[in-house]
Amino acid sequence: MKKLEVDKILEKNGWKKNKIVGILQDIQDVYYYLPEDVLIYISEKLNIPLSQIYSISTFYKAFSLKPKGKYRIKICLGTACHVRGGYIISEFLKNKLKILPGETTKDELFSFETVNCLGACAIGPIVVINEKYYGQMDVEKTEKLINKLK
Ligand code: FES
Repeated sequence: MKKLEVDKILEKNGWKKNKIVGILQDIQDVYYYLPEDVLIYISEKLNIPLSQIYSISTFYKAFSLKPKGKYRIKICLGTACHVRGGYIISEFLKNKLKILPGETTKDELFSFETVNCLGACAIGPIVVINEKYYGQMDVEKTEKLINKLK
């Protein structure tokens, strides 16, 4: 953990207990998950019980307590993407990466999750890698992308 980085986030949020959700969002933006040592540090600095921080971290689906991969893949399984083959891409990714949605590969290169509607249904099925959207995807295009990143 880089204390300076975390201190900057606490400073930005005024070192205020009532900004804890925003603080956790900022932490996740930096680390892509909520590392335990950072949560302990925040708990001590803001005098918030660690159990309370964990209960917030697990309440919001957007927060992750598990490390994410260098490449964070989302596959949309909203209705429009699902019927156009999103599910097939999701199954392909499970087999190709040998992980289930929500997991990270052992080499920490890829993590993969399924989401519901990313608001770009017209160009579905959608695959997102590190916030970059790829539309009209299929298994072949997804495989090419993954192989390029390896
Ligand atoms: S259903 Fe996939 S973007 Fe809307």
